Amino acid sequence: MKTLIVFYSRTGTTRLVAQKIAEMVKGDLEEIKDTKNRDGIIGFLRSGYESARRKLTVIAETKYDPAQYDLVVIGTPVWAGNISSPTRTYMVKNKDRIKKVAFFCTLSLKDAPNIFKEMKEACQKEPIATAMFRRKDVIGNEYADKLKEFVSKIESQ
Ligand SMILES: Cc1cc2nc3c(=O)[nH]c(=O)nc-3n(C[C@H](O)[C@H](O)[C@H](O)COP(=O)(O)O)c2cc1C
Repeated sequence: MKTLIVFYSRTGTTRLVAQKIAEMVKGDLEEIKDTKNRDGIIGFLRSGYESARRKLTVIAETKYDPAQYDLVVIGTPVWAGNISSPTRTYMVKNKDRIKKVAFFCTLSLKDAPNIFKEMKEACQKEPIATAMFRRKDVIGNEYADKLKEFVSKIESQ
């Protein structure tokens, strides 16, 4: 199965997970590049505001065409309980070019109850698998079991 892993990452956590998934499924990796400065407290506040309000941003042109893949795996950090605005922008732009989708997110808290519902609505597609990874587990490299479970779900499709 030809798989594309698409992610946005502000501070590297989501990138680590995306890279691991790409290695495990031998997929292509697409990093969403945002054009806004999200550094410092202003960047943090702007990011939270945009995500909570479901606002879009301007992202750089992407490398791969999702329509060329059997499955697109999309990963985002949770911002204000919601999809990071760069990831939402990618989803809205590409939803009609995605056949099958799987979602993952990284987050600091224990849960983000609405995140996959929001991702599903933004993509207008039911995911074949979802997974949530806590930042502390990713940084501490204690997420192998959860990752394996997610990847085996993807590969069984
Ligand atoms: C603007 C902003 C808002 C955030 N809101 C939440 C939140 O609502 N819930 C949560 O668990 N983590 C929240 N976080 C933490 C990130 O989701 C978490 O650190 C994530 O793993 C960062 O991913 P990254 O390193 O790929 O950018 C927020 C981070 C930022 C920058």
